[in-house]
Amino acid sequence: MTQAHKPVLLKESIDYLITKKDGVYFEGTLGFGGHTEEIFSSLSKKGNVVSTDVDLNAFNYCKEKFKGEDRIKLYNFNFSLIDVIAKIESLEFFDGILADLGVSSFQLDNAAAGFSYSVNSELDLRLDKNLRKTAADFINQETEEKIANVIFEFGEEKNSRKIARQVSEARRIKRIETTDELKKIIASVTNPKYLTKTLSRVFQALRIYVNDELGALTAFLNNSLTVLRKGGRLVVISYHSLEDRIVKDFFKYESLSCVCPPDSPICTCGKVKRLNVITKKPIVPSELEIRNNKRARSAKLRVAERI
Ligand SMILES: C[S@@+](CC[C@H](N)C(=O)[O-])C[C@H]1O[C@@H](n2cnc3c(N)ncnc32)[C@H](O)[C@@H]1O
Repeated sequence: MTQAHKPVLLKESIDYLITKKDGVYFEGTLGFGGHTEEIFSSLSKKGNVVSTDVDLNAFNYCKEKFKGEDRIKLYNFNFSLIDVIAKIESLEFFDGILADLGVSSFQLDNAAAGFSYSVNSELDLRLDKNLRKTAADFINQETEEKIANVIFEFGEEKNSRKIARQVSEARRIKRIETTDELKKIIASVTNPKYLTKTLSRVFQALRIYVNDELGALTAFLNNSLTVLRKGGRLVVISYHSLEDRIVKDFFKYESLSCVCPPDSPICTCGKVKRLNVITKKPIVPSELEIRNNKRARSAKLRVAERI
């Protein structure tokens, strides 16, 4: 399990995050503990880290990894509950907040985790196994139109209507239960030249939908600002354009002090500027990092400071 996941943009993200070595830092995406460990080792003996992951396997793995280290507190909560976690920890503020979005290499590459289309497994895709609906439930129960919209919106897949049509034909004969079954259905209406890309887009779309990843990200960003100390940094690593757009737009909106129409003679909006954007353009991994870790290739790091 030591090679389960290589942390992405590790040095860059931690250098931006830590502004006070005695502080309390939050990581919303614990995974295999790569970033949490690096935050911890950058702090003084008075510093603390609070980290969470919705995936119980990741949480249990890190419980063992950080056993006996009482300055690292772990939770098995959705990161959107950052304000609740602060309350439980009796903290008014965190000194810095990090999220390394998406899924880990372990979750993607292991059949048992149920996220990979390259290995046959149950069509599940839930990070949090307490969620009521699996990807199979969605694919078998929703209308053809809704399936097409999800594949288009969250996978940016142009062939979404054709795929949804084929899904709806196939499920009339038999419930679609496995990743292989869905893969075959997609393959039957996709040019083999584009199959790998299409499969990644459709599985990404289903994962985003089933876990409400974009809703959780929006709630996390909003709640973060209520528990981030002035001068503290919000550091986010995203892996696809939908996530990055949400982070970018949020940072932009929160860095404005007025949102009145341009022709308005006086400001009446009452908008308060809460962030200064530190990275005008996103930081991306070096060629060397991408060569050593292909999962890093789509990463974008954005940083803003609470004011
Ligand atoms: C890219 S991995 C993080 C890897 C980690 N930084 C490391 O170095 O090992 C993303 C992790 O975030 C978790 N995750 C995704 N959405 C989440 C959410 N809404 N709340 C909490 N954890 C989430 C996933 O289960 C996964 O373990």
